Amino acid sequence: MIRNLTKTSLMLFFLSLLSTTHLSGQQDIPSRVEALLNKMTLAEKVGQMNQYNGFWDVTGPVPKEGNSKMKYEHLKQGKVGAVLNVRGVENVRKLQEIVVKESRLGIPLIFGQDIIHGFKTLTPVPLAETASWDLEAIQRSARNAAVQASAAGISWTFAPMVDISRDARWGRVMEGAGEDPYLGALVGVARIKGFQGDDLAAPNTIASTAKHFAAYGFAEAGREYNTVDVGTNTLHNIVFPPFKAAVENNVKSVMNAFNILNGVPATGDAFLQREMLKDRWGFKGFVISDWGSIKEIAFHGHAKDLKHTAELAAKAGSDMDMESYAYINHLEALVKEGKVQESLLDDAVRRILTVKMELGLFEDPYLYCNEEREKRWLYAAEHDVAALDMAKKSIVLLKNEKQLLPLAKTQQKIAVIGALANDKNSPLGSWRIGSDDNTAISVIEGLTKYGKNFTYAKGADLITGKANFIDEVKINETDRSGFAAAVELAKNSSVVLMVLGEHGFQSGEGRSRTKLGLPGVQQELLEAVHAVNPNIVLILMNGRPLAIPWAAENIPAILETWQLGTQSGNAIANVLYGDYNPSGKLPMTFPRSVGQVPIYYNHYSTGRPVSEGNVFWSHYSDEANTPLYPFGFGLSYTQFEYSDLSVDASNPKAVKVMVTVTNVGSRTGEEVVQLYLQDKVASVVRPVKELKGFQKFSLSPKGTKRVSFTLTEKELGFYNTKGKFIVEPGMFEVQVGTNSQEGLSKSFELK
Ligand code: GLC
Repeated sequence: MIRNLTKTSLMLFFLSLLSTTHLSGQQDIPSRVEALLNKMTLAEKVGQMNQYNGFWDVTGPVPKEGNSKMKYEHLKQGKVGAVLNVRGVENVRKLQEIVVKESRLGIPLIFGQDIIHGFKTLTPVPLAETASWDLEAIQRSARNAAVQASAAGISWTFAPMVDISRDARWGRVMEGAGEDPYLGALVGVARIKGFQGDDLAAPNTIASTAKHFAAYGFAEAGREYNTVDVGTNTLHNIVFPPFKAAVENNVKSVMNAFNILNGVPATGDAFLQREMLKDRWGFKGFVISDWGSIKEIAFHGHAKDLKHTAELAAKAGSDMDMESYAYINHLEALVKEGKVQESLLDDAVRRILTVKMELGLFEDPYLYCNEEREKRWLYAAEHDVAALDMAKKSIVLLKNEKQLLPLAKTQQKIAVIGALANDKNSPLGSWRIGSDDNTAISVIEGLTKYGKNFTYAKGADLITGKANFIDEVKINETDRSGFAAAVELAKNSSVVLMVLGEHGFQSGEGRSRTKLGLPGVQQELLEAVHAVNPNIVLILMNGRPLAIPWAAENIPAILETWQLGTQSGNAIANVLYGDYNPSGKLPMTFPRSVGQVPIYYNHYSTGRPVSEGNVFWSHYSDEANTPLYPFGFGLSYTQFEYSDLSVDASNPKAVKVMVTVTNVGSRTGEEVVQLYLQDKVASVVRPVKELKGFQKFSLSPKGTKRVSFTLTEKELGFYNTKGKFIVEPGMFEVQVGTNSQEGLSKSFELK
């Protein structure tokens, strides 16, 4: 008995130690935060809620107050909590030393930056990465980006952007995960896990940010920063889910959006930032404003002056002010005048200090300032391997008639045409602050690794002059002087590779377009070449869905290669020559024409979905309703067949769906099996289908796999107009297949 007692008591003792240690770790932070908060003056609390841009990269309009002399003074006076866009360990250390050594409490700064798709080694733009439907690869991409960025002194990224959007006119679709909330939520969480890792206090993990809260992707007419008006059904079932998933997966900050949402600027909206984010979802991190979004509350016509914006934003739950100078200039007075409760500042400062402590910045404010690590990890060779893998998996094969692809390695007389084929900058895409220009492997360089059996002709410039992150890109609309040489080359070639599309800075922030065709003179060039040699492989480089109906009709092979980052040319060459069998699937619908936009797969039926032989049904008189390429679409160099779809709904809490997939082609390939669900009759109209599951795997020729999915309440339910999640019994239809339009279907009743 004694022996047992000893064993039990020993075990209990160690358990208590563990729990105490563990709890003291957690307990330790809240009590340390409280102790520090109690020492802080009102001015120092306001200081923690103030973020300045560094003195290097500008990612927004620079206000006149933004002078560096004042900022240095404020650093010394403890009036700055965070800085963004500071370049390199040396400069991060310099600013950190000022704050830690000269300010009264020495509260360390957190250094933020938009690490969106890599830092020095760039991976494909996020929309392209999503096309891989490979969550592990996406997480690894973010992990490597965090390793590089943290080595350069950055402790916080303003990513992932989780804005759902159905509008390719909006330039920031390149930055997100497309049109679907289910896929968007999973991709956002993968990125958060990649950035934050398993231990936020480690020197190679960084805090992440779910942005932009909320509904920024629904800007009217796809025009940047434009008005947003969406109903509760769209808000709760499309816009919110990726943010809610981010909060449930411990995202450390949320950035609010520039737009008004249903009449209220998001930055000043307590429904969003307090009721939904902090109260209903229990968000414990802090809300960072977008660049200048607090002061823009006045431009929206919701506040009379900067001081009023500070009052509204603080009350609405914006915890930190990025570059509005609203909090630093007015928050102290607002508290003293009794217009803003100091308790609101305490809540904001607690959240900010907690993240800084979780990052380990109080134990070591210079944790991210290690020149050795900076030398070791920027452009790390290991990251090139992962970036190439990610790039290959992001490519989508849209068409491959006459089996033009893959090219035979002995293929002779290949013509390569298009300015983008020889471009080492554009494939890097937008949103790459702190990266270095011209570090992409071009298509020409990638092809050269397969021999020099090709000849290049530019055909036409895509842009005139230089392109950069903040200025309008000037498109070549007139210079066709290279056409003749390109056409002559095509005439004397067996196959033509045409690399056409958008410049990397034609999408991203501030880059809305009213047209979705090939910019400039590229369509003319494509048709001129086609006239003399129709054996064309069109290699698209673009940051958004394009409307390319002529190409879809006339060009035998089309590869969607987006902007694939540093390893662009190598990935494209690997796919062209079949060393990688393309496996990507579209994360966003490609329209036939811009007039169809917004067009998306998870639409509603409408009351007149089909023709009755007259015009009184939901359609256009001059365009089909169907997309050019649907959500989830992507071909392979092999073919997959689906059979034996079964559904077992005997347990309404776990509906079992199974299907058999067989590789009936001659090459090993990866397939993304997609499961879509329709709730046929519901108290809130449900889409004709919604993605509720997918699995990606490889099959060798003749290989077959019995794939199973389990549908739980999470997949079967939806948010009603009160924002309450409910599951309703009734008839459902499940579709399992290779994209959102093709698959096997079966109905079942949920009891
Ligand atoms: C920009 C963007 C936001 C970014 C911030 C800092 O205007 O809207 O996504 O994180 O400013 O660069």
